[in-house]
Amino acid sequence: MNRIAPSILSADFARLGEEVKNVIAAGADLIHFDVMDNHYVPNLTVGPVVCEAIKPYATVPIDVHLMVSPVDSLIPAFAKAGAGIISFHPEASAHVDRTLALIRDNGCKAGLVFNPATPLHYLDHVMERLDLILLMSVNPGFGGQSFIESAIEKLKIVRRRIDESGRDILLEVDGGVKVDNIGRIGAAGADTFVAGSAIFGSGDYAGTIRSMRAELDRCAR
Ligand code: DX5
Ligand code: ZN
Repeated sequence: MNRIAPSILSADFARLGEEVKNVIAAGADLIHFDVMDNHYVPNLTVGPVVCEAIKPYATVPIDVHLMVSPVDSLIPAFAKAGAGIISFHPEASAHVDRTLALIRDNGCKAGLVFNPATPLHYLDHVMERLDLILLMSVNPGFGGQSFIESAIEKLKIVRRRIDESGRDILLEVDGGVKVDNIGRIGAAGADTFVAGSAIFGSGDYAGTIRSMRAELDRCAR
């Protein structure tokens, strides 16, 4: 099943609750919540307080993408604030296995995130601890960037690894996903699609999500 995860980074922050409600009514399967610390990435966004504030509007799971270093101290805070999934970048954590365990101990699904140039060897010993693998198709820090093509080959490799593992692990892609490229991104193996500017920048959230699903069906593997 394909999942569409609108990134609220491109939403109207002054009307965030309403934006979350509207994008879910338009067909969102997850709410992607980008957390940036001006240390691991050169931008600063929102923390657990804002996650807690949107929780009453979020009738689908909140997919928290941590772009922070260090990672661990924020995990209990986001779990308490209503996160369903928490993902982090392995190079931002001193102890990847410990961080993954901490996420699950706090009752959330756990994800690892790979930047365009982050090698996949971080997957070698942790597949059984993962619920989600997120491949960045831009360098993290900002919405509205262009899709980096090398993500396509990387998706194919990770798709194979997930299938070989026999585990139920979501394969998410984040950055530059649009109606006109989502089909081939899905064909490369992704099943969960973050899209910020493509959805919130369009006047018609439902129409955009519908077109994305139509493209995914058209290019189905
Ligand atoms: C980038 C964020 C993305 C971003 C995606 O660091 O992780 O989630 O908001 O935005 P678009 O879809 O506009 O590339
Ligand atoms: Zn993100």
